[in-house]
Amino acid sequence: MKIRAAVLEEFGKPLAVQEVDLAEPRAGEVLVRLHACGVCHTDLYTASGADPSGYAPAVLGHEGAGVVESVGPDVTSLSPGDHVVTLFSPQCGECVHCVDPRTNLCMAIRAEQNLGHLPDGSTRLSRGDEEIRHFMGCSTFAEYTVMPEIALAKINPKAPFEHACLFACGLSTGLGAAINTAAVTPGSTCVVFGAGMVGLGAVAGCRLQGAERIICVDLSAERLELARGQGATDLMIGGEGTVENVLEMTAGYGADYTFEATGSVKVMRQAVEAARMAWGLCTVAGVAGKGETLDVVPRFLITGRRVAGSSFGGVKGRDQVPVLVERYLEGEIDVEPFLSHRISLDEVNRGFELMEAQDGIRSVIEFA
Ligand SMILES: NC(=O)c1ccc[n+]([C@@H]2O[C@H](COP(=O)([O-])OP(=O)(O)OC[C@H]3O[C@@H](n4cnc5c(N)ncnc54)[C@H](O)[C@@H]3O)[C@@H](O)[C@H]2O)c1
Ligand SMILES: [Zn+2]
Ligand SMILES: [Zn+2]
Repeated sequence: MKIRAAVLEEFGKPLAVQEVDLAEPRAGEVLVRLHACGVCHTDLYTASGADPSGYAPAVLGHEGAGVVESVGPDVTSLSPGDHVVTLFSPQCGECVHCVDPRTNLCMAIRAEQNLGHLPDGSTRLSRGDEEIRHFMGCSTFAEYTVMPEIALAKINPKAPFEHACLFACGLSTGLGAAINTAAVTPGSTCVVFGAGMVGLGAVAGCRLQGAERIICVDLSAERLELARGQGATDLMIGGEGTVENVLEMTAGYGADYTFEATGSVKVMRQAVEAARMAWGLCTVAGVAGKGETLDVVPRFLITGRRVAGSSFGGVKGRDQVPVLVERYLEGEIDVEPFLSHRISLDEVNRGFELMEAQDGIRSVIEFA
């Protein structure tokens, strides 16, 4: 079929919205009609050429929500009409990691996904004789996409698509970092560095876990106000003295849990040092630049601080994204403040500009 999609033709150039071909879903694959898709830093990172593993031409986008249009052979868990959220982090349910409760890092299709292929090693996207690659296994800057069944979470159809799509990436990452990776305990003190989509999700996750004190640190006073709306009890403008400020607010000890959601290795170090001696746990969710390293004085570890990393918040997507969406529908998570701009597919490059200007938390593409 012919679809309209935003194609990365050349690194550092605007995406080109155009008509491309999308083939029928094969075994284990599903055709999804997109209704909404968030514009994320990872899309921009790849489009800019900064990501050394990037490839072109490719259809970008990975924060999609939509409706199953049709299914290929052997698809058993989804049917036409189901509402779904796309998962760049799939859940096959069978691999060595999927059967273990300690991780969400499914191994089933990793290698082919990283190459821009669907699991059988080919693409469904093309343009004449030229193959166009899939991005993060999703390619949701498009009216339709074909994705593996194991990379789609079936959600409650009551959830509006423009809110549901935010659970495809940053929001679930932040929520999951607090709920799964750190498993914040009631009554604890938490510090969240960064008040973007991921950090704000972490603030909400800490609140849902019953944290007593949630300190949010950012450079933007405007973003810190959004953190207050998600449950932050204390707001702090970040910078050189942040660790000292946190120690001062915690009787010199530091926080039970710290979260890093900026992608800066300097802030990661602050997050380690702001964690409490004896049992403080620092969870790193930000993605650092290629080749950057985290500098930690070992004494911080010997005296009981721990460091954990969190990919997609440790969320096992097919099982847990629907649960998070349910909690949102029950009023436990306030998603509307994250949706800053509604744009059309043709305006996707404007979505990048708004992100670079830090204008709002998320621009969401709505499909007619
Ligand atoms: N682990 C994962 O699976 C996963 C998923 C999505 C995004 N990410 C990563 O998480 C990070 C955050 O993503 P986002 O969408 O929320 O980004 P964002 O750019 O919207 O938010 C980052 C925030 O950090 C703040 N910040 C920058 N320097 C700071 C400092 N010195 N002190 C305090 N705050 C500072 C900025 O003001 C901004 O509000 C990125 O690195 C992104 O790549 C990781
Ligand atoms: Zn994303
Ligand atoms: Zn798996």
